[in-house]
Amino acid sequence: MTDKVPYLDLPAQLRGLRKEIDAALARTLDHCSFCLGPDVAQFEKDFAKFCGAEHGVGLNSGTSALHVAMLLAGVGPGDEVISTPCTFVATSWAISYVGAKPVYVDVDDATFNLDPKLIERAITPRTKAILPVHLYGHPFDVDAILAICRKHKLPLIEDACQAHGAKYKGKVIGAFGEMSCFSFYPGKNLGAAGEGGALVTNNAAFAARARALREHGSTVRYYHDEIGFNYRMEGFQGAVLGVKLKHLDTWTRERRRVAHRYHELLADTPLQLPREAGYAESAYHLYVVRHPRRDELKKHLEVNGVGCALHYPMSLHLQKCYAHLGHKEGAFPAAEKAARECLSLPIYPELTDAQIQRVVSVIKDFFAKK
Ligand SMILES: Cc1ncc(COP(=O)(O)O)c(C=O)c1O
Repeated sequence: MTDKVPYLDLPAQLRGLRKEIDAALARTLDHCSFCLGPDVAQFEKDFAKFCGAEHGVGLNSGTSALHVAMLLAGVGPGDEVISTPCTFVATSWAISYVGAKPVYVDVDDATFNLDPKLIERAITPRTKAILPVHLYGHPFDVDAILAICRKHKLPLIEDACQAHGAKYKGKVIGAFGEMSCFSFYPGKNLGAAGEGGALVTNNAAFAARARALREHGSTVRYYHDEIGFNYRMEGFQGAVLGVKLKHLDTWTRERRRVAHRYHELLADTPLQLPREAGYAESAYHLYVVRHPRRDELKKHLEVNGVGCALHYPMSLHLQKCYAHLGHKEGAFPAAEKAARECLSLPIYPELTDAQIQRVVSVIKDFFAKK
Protein backbone atom coordinates (compact mmCIF):
# COMPACT_ATOMS: atom_id res chain seq x y z
CA MET A 1 0.00 0.00 0.00
CA THR A 2 1.33 3.37 -0.95
CA ASP A 3 0.97 6.06 1.70
CA LYS A 4 0.37 8.79 -0.84
CA VAL A 5 -3.11 9.24 -2.19
CA PRO A 6 -3.28 11.64 -5.13
CA TYR A 7 -6.30 13.91 -5.36
CA LEU A 8 -6.85 12.82 -8.96
CA ASP A 9 -5.28 9.87 -10.80
CA LEU A 10 -5.85 10.18 -14.54
CA PRO A 11 -2.99 7.79 -15.42
CA ALA A 12 -4.79 5.01 -13.50
CA GLN A 13 -7.86 5.46 -15.72
CA LEU A 14 -5.82 5.61 -18.92
CA ARG A 15 -3.83 2.46 -18.18
CA GLY A 16 -6.86 0.23 -18.64
CA LEU A 17 -8.03 2.00 -21.81
CA ARG A 18 -4.75 2.67 -23.56
CA LYS A 19 -5.14 0.10 -26.36
CA GLU A 20 -8.70 1.14 -27.20
CA ILE A 21 -7.79 4.82 -27.15
CA ASP A 22 -4.66 4.34 -29.24
CA ALA A 23 -6.73 2.52 -31.89
CA ALA A 24 -9.41 5.26 -31.89
CA LEU A 25 -6.80 8.01 -32.22
CA ALA A 26 -5.05 6.15 -35.05
CA ARG A 27 -8.38 5.92 -36.89
CA THR A 28 -8.89 9.68 -36.59
CA LEU A 29 -5.34 10.25 -37.78
CA ASP A 30 -5.87 7.96 -40.77
CA HIS A 31 -9.06 9.83 -41.72
CA CYS A 32 -7.51 13.23 -40.99
CA SER A 33 -10.87 14.17 -39.44
CA PHE A 34 -9.41 16.66 -36.99
CA CYS A 35 -12.23 19.18 -36.59
CA LEU A 36 -15.64 17.54 -35.99
CA GLY A 37 -15.81 14.49 -38.31
CA PRO A 38 -17.30 10.98 -37.97
CA ASP A 39 -16.05 10.21 -34.45
CA VAL A 40 -17.54 13.43 -33.10
CA ALA A 41 -20.82 12.77 -34.96
CA GLN A 42 -21.02 9.25 -33.50
CA PHE A 43 -20.19 10.47 -30.01
CA GLU A 44 -22.87 13.18 -30.24
CA LYS A 45 -25.48 10.51 -31.04
CA ASP A 46 -24.30 8.15 -28.32
CA PHE A 47 -24.03 10.83 -25.65
CA ALA A 48 -27.47 12.28 -26.43
CA LYS A 49 -28.92 8.77 -26.17
CA PHE A 50 -27.10 8.23 -22.87
CA CYS A 51 -28.78 11.41 -21.55
CA GLY A 52 -32.20 10.36 -22.90
CA ALA A 53 -32.19 13.34 -25.27
CA GLU A 54 -32.70 13.61 -29.02
CA HIS A 55 -29.78 15.83 -29.99
CA GLY A 56 -26.19 16.29 -28.90
CA VAL A 57 -23.91 18.99 -30.24
CA GLY A 58 -20.17 18.54 -29.67
CA LEU A 59 -18.32 21.70 -28.69
CA ASN A 60 -14.86 22.68 -27.57
CA SER A 61 -15.72 23.24 -23.88
CA GLY A 62 -18.47 23.36 -21.30
CA THR A 63 -18.05 27.13 -21.20
CA SER A 64 -18.84 27.30 -24.94
CA ALA A 65 -21.88 25.07 -24.40
CA LEU A 66 -23.20 27.45 -21.73
CA HIS A 67 -22.52 30.47 -23.94
CA VAL A 68 -24.36 28.89 -26.89
CA ALA A 69 -27.25 27.94 -24.58
CA MET A 70 -27.63 31.56 -23.49
CA LEU A 71 -27.75 32.68 -27.14
CA LEU A 72 -30.32 29.99 -28.00
CA ALA A 73 -32.47 31.04 -25.06
CA GLY A 74 -32.46 34.58 -26.47
CA VAL A 75 -30.72 36.07 -23.44
CA GLY A 76 -29.12 39.41 -24.25
CA PRO A 77 -27.98 42.77 -22.89
CA GLY A 78 -29.99 44.03 -19.92
CA ASP A 79 -31.57 40.61 -19.23
CA GLU A 80 -31.24 38.71 -15.98
CA VAL A 81 -30.54 35.02 -15.45
CA ILE A 82 -31.09 33.38 -12.08
CA SER A 83 -28.16 31.21 -11.06
CA THR A 84 -26.04 30.02 -8.17
CA PRO A 85 -23.05 31.72 -6.54
CA CYS A 86 -21.73 28.31 -5.47
CA THR A 87 -20.20 26.94 -8.68
CA PHE A 88 -17.24 27.21 -11.01
CA VAL A 89 -17.12 30.71 -12.46
CA ALA A 90 -17.89 29.57 -16.03
CA THR A 91 -21.57 29.17 -15.12
CA SER A 92 -21.73 32.94 -14.69
CA TRP A 93 -19.39 33.69 -17.61
CA ALA A 94 -22.03 32.49 -20.04
CA ILE A 95 -24.52 35.02 -18.65
CA SER A 96 -21.93 37.79 -18.78
CA TYR A 97 -20.78 36.90 -22.32
CA VAL A 98 -24.22 37.79 -23.71
CA GLY A 99 -24.35 41.06 -21.76
CA ALA A 100 -26.86 39.81 -19.19
CA LYS A 101 -26.67 39.95 -15.41
CA PRO A 102 -26.30 36.91 -13.13
CA VAL A 103 -28.89 37.16 -10.37
CA TYR A 104 -27.74 34.96 -7.55
CA VAL A 105 -29.96 32.93 -5.27
CA ASP A 106 -28.52 31.17 -2.23
CA VAL A 107 -27.99 27.42 -2.10
CA ASP A 108 -29.55 24.71 0.00
CA ASP A 109 -27.23 23.98 2.92
CA ALA A 110 -27.49 20.19 2.54
CA THR A 111 -26.89 19.77 -1.21
CA PHE A 112 -25.05 23.02 -2.14
CA ASN A 113 -27.54 23.37 -5.03
CA LEU A 114 -29.79 26.30 -5.86
CA ASP A 115 -32.52 26.48 -3.20
CA PRO A 116 -35.89 26.34 -5.02
CA LYS A 117 -37.62 28.09 -2.09
CA LEU A 118 -35.62 31.26 -2.76
CA ILE A 119 -35.99 31.48 -6.54
CA GLU A 120 -39.39 33.16 -7.03
CA ARG A 121 -38.55 36.27 -5.02
CA ALA A 122 -35.57 36.87 -7.37
CA ILE A 123 -37.68 36.83 -10.55
CA THR A 124 -38.25 40.23 -12.19
CA PRO A 125 -39.70 41.30 -15.57
CA ARG A 126 -36.12 41.15 -16.92
CA THR A 127 -35.56 37.50 -15.92
CA LYS A 128 -34.96 35.44 -19.09
CA ALA A 129 -33.84 32.03 -17.83
CA ILE A 130 -32.92 29.90 -14.82
CA LEU A 131 -29.46 28.31 -14.85
CA PRO A 132 -28.88 25.96 -11.90
CA VAL A 133 -25.93 23.57 -11.58
CA HIS A 134 -25.98 19.88 -10.70
CA LEU A 135 -23.08 20.65 -8.39
CA TYR A 136 -20.48 18.02 -7.50
CA GLY A 137 -22.56 15.50 -9.47
CA HIS A 138 -25.61 15.81 -7.19
CA PRO A 139 -28.77 16.72 -9.14
CA PHE A 140 -30.62 19.86 -8.16
CA ASP A 141 -34.30 19.53 -7.33
CA VAL A 142 -35.46 19.40 -10.96
CA ASP A 143 -39.23 19.15 -10.39
CA ALA A 144 -39.32 22.04 -7.92
CA ILE A 145 -37.35 24.29 -10.28
CA LEU A 146 -39.26 23.15 -13.38
CA ALA A 147 -42.55 24.06 -11.66
CA ILE A 148 -41.24 27.62 -11.16
CA CYS A 149 -40.02 27.76 -14.77
CA ARG A 150 -43.43 26.69 -16.08
CA LYS A 151 -45.30 29.12 -13.84
CA HIS A 152 -43.16 32.06 -15.02
CA LYS A 153 -42.61 30.79 -18.59
CA LEU A 154 -38.85 30.70 -18.22
CA PRO A 155 -36.51 28.17 -19.85
CA LEU A 156 -34.52 25.86 -17.61
CA ILE A 157 -30.92 25.49 -18.70
CA GLU A 158 -29.01 22.79 -16.81
CA ASP A 159 -25.33 23.25 -16.07
CA ALA A 160 -24.55 19.55 -16.06
CA CYS A 161 -20.79 20.00 -16.41
CA GLN A 162 -20.14 17.97 -13.24
CA ALA A 163 -22.95 15.45 -13.45
CA HIS A 164 -22.59 13.00 -16.36
CA GLY A 165 -24.70 9.99 -15.47
CA ALA A 166 -26.26 11.42 -12.29
CA LYS A 167 -29.90 10.45 -11.83
CA TYR A 168 -32.93 12.44 -10.71
CA LYS A 169 -35.85 10.23 -9.61
CA GLY A 170 -34.22 7.32 -11.43
CA LYS A 171 -33.68 9.14 -14.75
CA VAL A 172 -30.28 10.21 -16.06
CA ILE A 173 -30.00 14.00 -16.02
CA GLY A 174 -29.56 15.95 -19.24
CA ALA A 175 -33.01 16.24 -20.78
CA PHE A 176 -35.15 17.84 -18.09
CA GLY A 177 -34.71 21.45 -19.17
CA GLU A 178 -34.64 23.16 -22.57
CA MET A 179 -30.92 22.48 -22.84
CA SER A 180 -28.15 20.88 -20.80
CA CYS A 181 -24.51 21.80 -20.95
CA PHE A 182 -21.69 19.35 -20.32
CA SER A 183 -17.94 19.72 -19.93
CA PHE A 184 -15.46 17.02 -20.87
CA TYR A 185 -12.50 18.69 -19.23
CA PRO A 186 -10.01 15.86 -18.47
CA GLY A 187 -10.83 15.57 -14.75
CA LYS A 188 -14.59 15.32 -15.26
CA ASN A 189 -16.47 12.03 -14.80
CA LEU A 190 -16.36 11.76 -18.58
CA GLY A 191 -13.17 13.52 -19.61
CA ALA A 192 -11.55 14.14 -22.98
CA ALA A 193 -7.81 14.18 -23.68
CA GLY A 194 -8.00 17.96 -23.76
CA GLU A 195 -10.91 20.39 -23.86
CA GLY A 196 -14.43 19.40 -24.82
CA GLY A 197 -18.09 20.11 -24.18
CA ALA A 198 -21.59 19.37 -25.44
CA LEU A 199 -25.01 20.87 -25.58
CA VAL A 200 -27.83 18.35 -25.26
CA THR A 201 -31.44 19.14 -26.13
CA ASN A 202 -34.75 17.74 -27.38
CA ASN A 203 -35.28 20.86 -29.50
CA ALA A 204 -34.24 20.24 -33.14
CA ALA A 205 -34.14 23.97 -33.98
CA PHE A 206 -31.83 24.67 -31.02
CA ALA A 207 -29.54 21.81 -32.07
CA ALA A 208 -29.37 23.06 -35.68
CA ARG A 209 -28.58 26.61 -34.59
CA ALA A 210 -25.98 25.39 -32.09
CA ARG A 211 -24.27 23.49 -34.94
CA ALA A 212 -24.21 26.67 -37.03
CA LEU A 213 -22.99 28.85 -34.14
CA ARG A 214 -20.05 26.52 -33.45
CA GLU A 215 -19.02 26.73 -37.14
CA HIS A 216 -18.67 30.50 -37.52
CA GLY A 217 -22.44 30.98 -37.85
CA SER A 218 -22.66 29.01 -41.09
CA THR A 219 -24.50 26.00 -42.47
CA VAL A 220 -23.08 26.44 -45.98
CA ARG A 221 -19.32 26.99 -46.03
CA TYR A 222 -18.29 30.65 -46.33
CA TYR A 223 -21.87 31.90 -46.01
CA HIS A 224 -22.43 33.32 -42.53
CA ASP A 225 -26.00 33.82 -41.39
CA GLU A 226 -25.14 35.30 -38.00
CA ILE A 227 -22.09 36.15 -35.92
CA GLY A 228 -20.67 32.79 -34.90
CA PHE A 229 -17.74 31.19 -33.14
CA ASN A 230 -15.10 28.55 -33.60
CA TYR A 231 -16.50 26.22 -30.92
CA ARG A 232 -16.00 22.93 -32.83
CA MET A 233 -15.11 19.74 -30.99
CA GLU A 234 -11.84 18.22 -32.22
CA GLY A 235 -11.92 14.84 -33.93
CA PHE A 236 -9.44 13.38 -31.43
CA GLN A 237 -11.70 14.33 -28.54
CA GLY A 238 -14.72 12.70 -30.19
CA ALA A 239 -12.65 9.53 -30.62
CA VAL A 240 -11.47 9.44 -26.99
CA LEU A 241 -14.90 10.31 -25.60
CA GLY A 242 -16.51 7.57 -27.71
CA VAL A 243 -14.24 5.00 -26.06
CA LYS A 244 -14.73 6.37 -22.57
CA LEU A 245 -18.53 6.71 -22.75
CA LYS A 246 -18.82 2.90 -22.84
CA HIS A 247 -17.26 2.82 -19.35
CA LEU A 248 -19.21 5.66 -17.78
CA ASP A 249 -21.88 3.53 -16.06
CA THR A 250 -19.20 1.35 -14.45
CA TRP A 251 -17.22 4.40 -13.38
CA THR A 252 -20.30 5.99 -11.82
CA ARG A 253 -20.95 2.80 -9.87
CA GLU A 254 -17.33 2.83 -8.68
CA ARG A 255 -17.52 6.50 -7.64
CA ARG A 256 -20.65 5.65 -5.65
CA ARG A 257 -18.81 2.74 -4.02
CA VAL A 258 -16.07 5.13 -2.89
CA ALA A 259 -18.61 7.66 -1.60
CA HIS A 260 -20.53 5.03 0.36
CA ARG A 261 -17.29 3.77 1.91
CA TYR A 262 -16.37 7.31 2.98
CA HIS A 263 -19.88 7.75 4.44
CA GLU A 264 -19.42 4.58 6.46
CA LEU A 265 -15.89 5.23 7.67
CA LEU A 266 -16.26 8.96 8.38
CA ALA A 267 -19.67 8.76 10.08
CA ASP A 268 -18.16 9.06 13.57
CA THR A 269 -15.99 12.10 12.77
CA PRO A 270 -17.04 15.74 13.30
CA LEU A 271 -17.10 16.30 9.52
CA GLN A 272 -20.32 17.25 7.78
CA LEU A 273 -20.61 14.64 5.04
CA PRO A 274 -22.35 14.96 1.67
CA ARG A 275 -25.77 13.36 1.72
CA GLU A 276 -28.01 12.47 -1.19
CA ALA A 277 -31.48 13.97 -1.29
CA GLY A 278 -34.25 11.36 -1.60
CA TYR A 279 -34.68 12.14 -5.31
CA ALA A 280 -31.01 11.92 -6.18
CA GLU A 281 -28.42 9.42 -7.31
CA SER A 282 -25.28 11.52 -7.32
CA ALA A 283 -22.54 10.86 -9.84
CA TYR A 284 -20.08 11.95 -7.14
CA HIS A 285 -17.87 14.06 -9.36
CA LEU A 286 -16.57 15.37 -6.03
CA TYR A 287 -16.82 14.20 -2.44
CA VAL A 288 -17.03 17.44 -0.48
CA VAL A 289 -16.95 17.40 3.32
CA ARG A 290 -17.29 20.45 5.54
CA HIS A 291 -15.68 21.60 8.76
CA PRO A 292 -15.00 25.01 10.36
CA ARG A 293 -11.30 24.10 10.70
CA ARG A 294 -11.06 23.24 7.01
CA ASP A 295 -7.78 25.07 6.38
CA GLU A 296 -5.94 23.21 9.18
CA LEU A 297 -7.36 19.90 8.05
CA LYS A 298 -6.31 20.60 4.46
CA LYS A 299 -2.76 21.27 5.57
CA HIS A 300 -2.74 18.11 7.71
CA LEU A 301 -3.89 15.99 4.75
CA GLU A 302 -1.30 17.51 2.42
CA VAL A 303 1.56 17.08 4.90
CA ASN A 304 0.55 13.42 5.16
CA GLY A 305 0.47 12.83 1.42
CA VAL A 306 -3.28 12.96 0.87
CA GLY A 307 -4.34 15.21 -2.00
CA CYS A 308 -7.36 17.44 -1.51
CA ALA A 309 -8.85 20.55 -3.10
CA LEU A 310 -11.32 23.40 -2.57
CA HIS A 311 -14.49 23.68 -4.63
CA TYR A 312 -14.77 26.60 -4.30
CA PRO A 313 -12.89 28.85 -1.91
CA MET A 314 -14.75 32.01 -2.89
CA SER A 315 -18.40 32.42 -3.73
CA LEU A 316 -18.99 34.07 -7.13
CA HIS A 317 -20.83 37.11 -5.74
CA LEU A 318 -17.64 38.09 -3.83
CA GLN A 319 -15.23 37.62 -6.76
CA LYS A 320 -13.44 40.71 -7.99
CA CYS A 321 -14.78 40.20 -11.52
CA TYR A 322 -18.34 40.54 -10.17
CA ALA A 323 -17.69 43.47 -7.82
CA HIS A 324 -19.83 45.63 -10.12
CA LEU A 325 -22.89 43.62 -9.01
CA GLY A 326 -22.47 45.27 -5.60
CA HIS A 327 -22.88 42.23 -3.34
CA LYS A 328 -21.45 42.35 0.18
CA GLU A 329 -20.34 39.54 2.46
CA GLY A 330 -23.37 38.00 4.14
CA ALA A 331 -25.57 38.31 1.04
CA PHE A 332 -25.69 34.53 0.48
CA PRO A 333 -24.86 32.90 3.83
CA ALA A 334 -25.15 29.24 2.81
CA ALA A 335 -22.88 29.72 -0.23
CA GLU A 336 -20.37 31.67 1.87
CA LYS A 337 -20.35 29.02 4.60
CA ALA A 338 -19.75 26.34 1.96
CA ALA A 339 -16.82 28.36 0.59
CA ARG A 340 -15.30 28.66 4.09
CA GLU A 341 -15.77 25.05 5.12
CA CYS A 342 -15.68 22.85 2.00
CA LEU A 343 -12.93 20.33 1.38
CA SER A 344 -12.89 17.88 -1.54
CA LEU A 345 -11.41 14.45 -0.79
CA PRO A 346 -9.95 12.14 -3.45
CA ILE A 347 -12.68 10.33 -5.37
CA TYR A 348 -12.30 8.40 -8.62
CA PRO A 349 -13.36 4.97 -9.86
CA GLU A 350 -9.88 3.50 -9.41
CA LEU A 351 -9.50 4.57 -5.75
CA THR A 352 -8.78 1.39 -3.78
CA ASP A 353 -10.18 0.46 -0.40
CA ALA A 354 -6.65 0.72 1.05
CA GLN A 355 -6.39 4.29 -0.26
CA ILE A 356 -9.81 5.18 1.16
CA GLN A 357 -8.73 3.81 4.53
CA ARG A 358 -5.53 5.82 4.35
CA VAL A 359 -7.49 9.06 3.72
CA VAL A 360 -9.82 8.24 6.61
CA SER A 361 -7.03 7.39 9.02
CA VAL A 362 -5.23 10.69 8.29
CA ILE A 363 -8.50 12.55 8.94
CA LYS A 364 -9.12 10.64 12.18
CA ASP A 365 -5.57 11.35 13.27
CA PHE A 366 -6.26 15.09 12.79
CA PHE A 367 -9.30 15.02 15.06
CA ALA A 368 -7.64 12.75 17.64
CA LYS A 369 -4.75 15.19 18.09
CA LYS A 370 -6.71 18.40 18.59
C1 LIG B 1 -20.12 23.68 -13.05
C2 LIG B 1 -19.24 23.95 -14.23
N1 LIG B 1 -19.68 24.77 -15.19
C3 LIG B 1 -18.94 25.03 -16.28
C4 LIG B 1 -17.68 24.49 -16.44
C5 LIG B 1 -16.87 24.86 -17.64
O1 LIG B 1 -16.48 23.78 -18.41
P1 LIG B 1 -15.13 23.85 -19.28
O2 LIG B 1 -13.98 23.85 -18.34
O3 LIG B 1 -15.19 22.62 -20.13
O4 LIG B 1 -15.20 25.09 -20.08
C6 LIG B 1 -17.19 23.61 -15.48
C7 LIG B 1 -15.89 22.94 -15.64
O5 LIG B 1 -14.92 23.18 -15.03
C8 LIG B 1 -17.97 23.36 -14.32
O6 LIG B 1 -17.53 22.55 -13.35
